[in-house]
Amino acid sequence: MSEIISHINPNSPEFQANHEHHKALASQLLTRQKRAATERPSRIVQRQRDRGKLLVRERIDALLDENSPFLELSPLAAWDMHGGEAPSAGIATGIGRVAGLECMIIANDPTVKGGTYFPETVKKHVRAQTIAEENHLPTIYLVDSGGAFLHLQANVFPDREHFGRIFYNIARMSGKGITQIAAVLGSCTAGGAYIPAMADETVIVKGNGTIFLAGPPLVKAATGEEVTAEDLGGADVHTRLSGVADHFAVDEQQALDQVREIASHLNRRKRVPVVLQEPEDPLYDPDELYGVLPADSRHAYDVREVIARLVDGSRLSEFKARYGPTVVCGFAHILGIPVGIVANNGLLFSESALKTTHFIQLCGQRGTPLLFMQNIAGFMVGKQYENSGIAKDGAKMVMAVSNVNVPRITLLHGVSHGAGNYGMSGRAYDPRYLFSWPNSRISVMSGESAANTLWTVGQQRYIQQLSNPTENDIRLAEEKFKRPVLDQYEEESSPYYATARLWDDGILDPAQTRQALALAFATTLNAPLSSDRFGTFRM
Ligand code: COA
Repeated sequence: MSEIISHINPNSPEFQANHEHHKALASQLLTRQKRAATERPSRIVQRQRDRGKLLVRERIDALLDENSPFLELSPLAAWDMHGGEAPSAGIATGIGRVAGLECMIIANDPTVKGGTYFPETVKKHVRAQTIAEENHLPTIYLVDSGGAFLHLQANVFPDREHFGRIFYNIARMSGKGITQIAAVLGSCTAGGAYIPAMADETVIVKGNGTIFLAGPPLVKAATGEEVTAEDLGGADVHTRLSGVADHFAVDEQQALDQVREIASHLNRRKRVPVVLQEPEDPLYDPDELYGVLPADSRHAYDVREVIARLVDGSRLSEFKARYGPTVVCGFAHILGIPVGIVANNGLLFSESALKTTHFIQLCGQRGTPLLFMQNIAGFMVGKQYENSGIAKDGAKMVMAVSNVNVPRITLLHGVSHGAGNYGMSGRAYDPRYLFSWPNSRISVMSGESAANTLWTVGQQRYIQQLSNPTENDIRLAEEKFKRPVLDQYEEESSPYYATARLWDDGILDPAQTRQALALAFATTLNAPLSSDRFGTFRM
């Protein structure tokens, strides 16, 4: 029997207190997501309406198939940054079905500084393209942007992963047969003009849609020529004279219908390389996750209690259950999709690293996608462990994670510190998606450990500055020294700090995580398995 038997009592006061705590975190998440999506000055919304434009999420709704889910990515990008002037980083990205195909949608939000690109906008756009490329998702651009946010040009223009990368990605994806479709629903200025110009097929809307390398004011300044935006690069010009766009639409709705029509001719069929099962609810209600997670993240709990509320039928076929027990490995299904799960259940020891490495190889051999569930303070430290080679066992795990040929998704459901983050498929290891929970924490080590480490290495010099210090003076000096470090780590390890900077693809409500993971895993099945091979495992 592989059903997980829960030992949690939902009627206990502890469960109730945890539930209240985590439910409040989930409501805070929802409130913040709603604010980022909808909180705009009414005059700007009205101006949008007066121009016959839909709001960005209305555009996406109108584009998607009826009843299609939409897996929105990084809705809280740029949260609490730029004085609150860049909600969602001024761009909405995510995956939904168009004409029956799972597509990546990248849509500028013209109500945020004319849809211009802040550093996080560029990062979010490029990240969505990376996801599209890795998972072979046709990509649809709903363009309405003034290009670079000129005040921050040094952080959006010159570097490898900056604005120019967007067009490089379009060219590379088109080259791989991943269709690129653009609908020009508004401004498309300067470098932005290359989105529709480089797309495989482009639609442009009469009146609002314009494409030009330089707008009328710049043309006047440069050459003295006076020209209207429409005559310079409107829909009529580009579909009749220049050929920069392919399809003329009288309004937005028609443009979005034309995109759907284009998508219906892509002649693609998803070839699912895994054996799917009929989806099944877990035996235990996912809502109970709020009560399963301890309110204090330092309290230990059995990660099987979390898995039981994420997987079909709460079934987990465990691998090496008796060995390396601080990591739980096993096979399960999420809404019918087979997955191999690697979940922390304590610190990583040599045995847990070896077990994980073995399990990752099994998933690679069977073509089973992997889910990494991170709640990891790090690897075990100390003479005994170093002497018996914990570094080389951790290295085996990193080697396996980095090269395994199957898609990986990572979920931060607790803390994520140190080399544990690496071995458990952290952001630097290119999981196809990385999501976090509102209670998660990510930093090189905990604030307490960082403050203690810095005090240990710096106290000598600090104490020397005090004349004849008493023990109490030293204690106060230590507290004063540590406080800013603790405050800094508290702020920077927050999931909101992380998601604002796109260290993840979004924070998920624990109770909704099953659906999000299933959607994400479903998209990974569009791409064939990679032909990557493992490198040298240090023995
Ligand atoms: N950089 C920085 N801020 C910009 C900007 C840019 N490229 N383009 C627009 N903005 C700001 C405006 O100053 C305005 O800010 P405010 O709300 O604080 O006053 C806000 O974005 C909205 O611009 P606005 O012109 O009022 O909106 P609009 O919908 O009528 O027009 C554009 C939007 C993008 C078509 C128009 O602003 C424009 O042409 N901008 C210049 C585009 C350009 O030349 N970009 C070069 C990029 S390389």
